[in-house]
Amino acid sequence: MGIVVAIDGPSGAGKSSTARAIALRASWSYLDTGALYRGATWLALRDKIVEPAQIVAALKNSPLKFDTDPAEPKLFAGDTDITSEIRSVAVTDHVSEVSAHPEVRKALLVLQQKLITGARRGIVVEGRDIGTVVAPDAALKIFLTADLSARALRRDRELAHTDSTSQVGEVEKSLHQRDITDSTRATSPLAMAPDAIAIDSTQLNLEETAERIWELLKERRLLGLPIVALLGRPNVGKSTLINRFLGRREAIVEDTPGVTRDRVTYECEWNGRDFMVMDTGGWESKPDGISIGVSLSAELAMKEADVLLLVVDSQVGALDEDDVLVQELRKMKKPIILIANKVDGPSEEAEAHGLWNLGLGEPHFVSALHGRGSGDLLDRIVEVLPEVGGAQVQDGYRRVALIGRPNVGKSSLLNILAGQNRSLVDDVAGTTRDPVDELIELGGSIWRFIDTAGIRRRANQQSGTDYYATLRTQIALERAEVAVVVLDASVPISEQDLRIITMVEEAGKALIIVMNKWDLVDEDRQISLDREIDRHLDQVEWAQRVNLAAKTGWHRDRLAPALRTALTSWEKRIPTSRLNSFLGTLIAATPPPVRGGKQPKIMYATQAGIAPPRFVIFATGFLESSYRRFIERRLREEFGFPGTPVQVAVRVRERE
Ligand code: DC
Repeated sequence: MGIVVAIDGPSGAGKSSTARAIALRASWSYLDTGALYRGATWLALRDKIVEPAQIVAALKNSPLKFDTDPAEPKLFAGDTDITSEIRSVAVTDHVSEVSAHPEVRKALLVLQQKLITGARRGIVVEGRDIGTVVAPDAALKIFLTADLSARALRRDRELAHTDSTSQVGEVEKSLHQRDITDSTRATSPLAMAPDAIAIDSTQLNLEETAERIWELLKERRLLGLPIVALLGRPNVGKSTLINRFLGRREAIVEDTPGVTRDRVTYECEWNGRDFMVMDTGGWESKPDGISIGVSLSAELAMKEADVLLLVVDSQVGALDEDDVLVQELRKMKKPIILIANKVDGPSEEAEAHGLWNLGLGEPHFVSALHGRGSGDLLDRIVEVLPEVGGAQVQDGYRRVALIGRPNVGKSSLLNILAGQNRSLVDDVAGTTRDPVDELIELGGSIWRFIDTAGIRRRANQQSGTDYYATLRTQIALERAEVAVVVLDASVPISEQDLRIITMVEEAGKALIIVMNKWDLVDEDRQISLDREIDRHLDQVEWAQRVNLAAKTGWHRDRLAPALRTALTSWEKRIPTSRLNSFLGTLIAATPPPVRGGKQPKIMYATQAGIAPPRFVIFATGFLESSYRRFIERRLREEFGFPGTPVQVAVRVRERE
């Protein structure tokens, strides 16, 4: 099963167009579950039936088939194409009623889940109960809304009236009625999942809405990297070429004829593009020598990869096997690049021109051993690379680093959180055989706690050296989205505590400060702690704070909501128009201070990124750091970013 993206929300919020745009861009499938409910309604109207049992029977007789191609989604009932019929006013008027029947929902749930599991790389599913009921494990959940009037206007425009009279008023009434029916029915009503991201599209157009979701997919690493497969006979120099791509010498054994090796993949970067290179080992003719087949490993690589590289030894030239391989490669209908290896100079190049005969166009001359031509080849590869590829992606569980100096109670906290719910342990591929991450259920969703092996081990090992502890924290932070820094509330906040908090801030991660051992905090300690917080934690005033006692479990249920709040802030995006109207008011009331006799003018601002939110202010001159901090403070007051650092940068542009 591929990545599942759930988009729920009321009618007219822009779910369909957004979902299709995302699916198209990612080359994923698309499922409009509303269409299925409309299909059931169409059947009910056709057969003039109202009883749920009759509708379920009609669905058996004329099964619905949904074609998940986002370019042209289609719905069939039996063999009849009803794609446009289900958009009729009659269907629209009855669909809420039909979809409220639990029996009908149950029948269509089975169909939806089949379509979802059938999707290979990914699927964008839109509806009302996808994140809550149909795909509660979806890797990304979006709740897309818009004001009723904006939605009515959009629907009205879609309804291409024959006369030019607009019926916005009517559409609004009907939408409103459906909103009410859909969100108040007993069985799986329209609802936002607790771990969904809310996007209000009232002020956004389609591109902006889709971009917002795309940004989340990228940031959460839910888009697979493209895979480049290296194919060719044994001993043509594939491994040497991979070493060249990686820019280092990694121990790869040369291909040995007759030995099937697994496909090995390496992560590569060229000109800012990341991709995977897959080594296929050699493939060769079948031992009986009659038929020539492609080895299994090469065959799988061809199917999985997004770009195919055929490597030929130019000093040997193309053999029959190469011709067969070319035929196989062609069937894949993927970009193919022909590489003539072992071309060390112009004379070999002249000879290698014979490889044009393979019919794959111009051969790329390289010398994997000496590096000749490898830069040009990488340029070419990056050119044909798709944006999203078939490589394994993250599972979508939010990544939490539990950190803090020794003896603050990290492992007791981990134990009490995991409790009975500690279900799964996981390996990070390729790095170590240690089970490093733990999947823990908290507050209704599963979280990936990073490097918990480190925590447990450190608990019984009095002191690993400081250096390694810091390094391990650093690495955990890099992989995490949110850090839970555990402090011992019963003792004064230390230098080391503050250093760890600064590390989180500098890494740009969301932050929760757990004041552990709260059971040991008496009135006196509380007073001094308040003072310490004022003095030392001033710079991270925005952090979420949770007082708890890991030992007894007191307040442990406060953690999940704090994590959610922090992550929501961390991924928040402020629309440019709102940002600039806020800034305009702010500047008018408090202009930037004069510096060296000149008053810098602030022209505009934009949010450059999320995770954490990063803002860029364009000004005509330098802005004092105190004024920048003032802007950040006001930004927080206006838009609220609890739990996340916010970065504000100023770019100076000369006045025109
Ligand atoms: O998205 P749409 O307007 O085509 O959906 C039509 C109706 O189907 C909607 O009013 C409620 C119902 N529906 C549902 O109950 N559950 C879903 N997952 C999707 C749609």
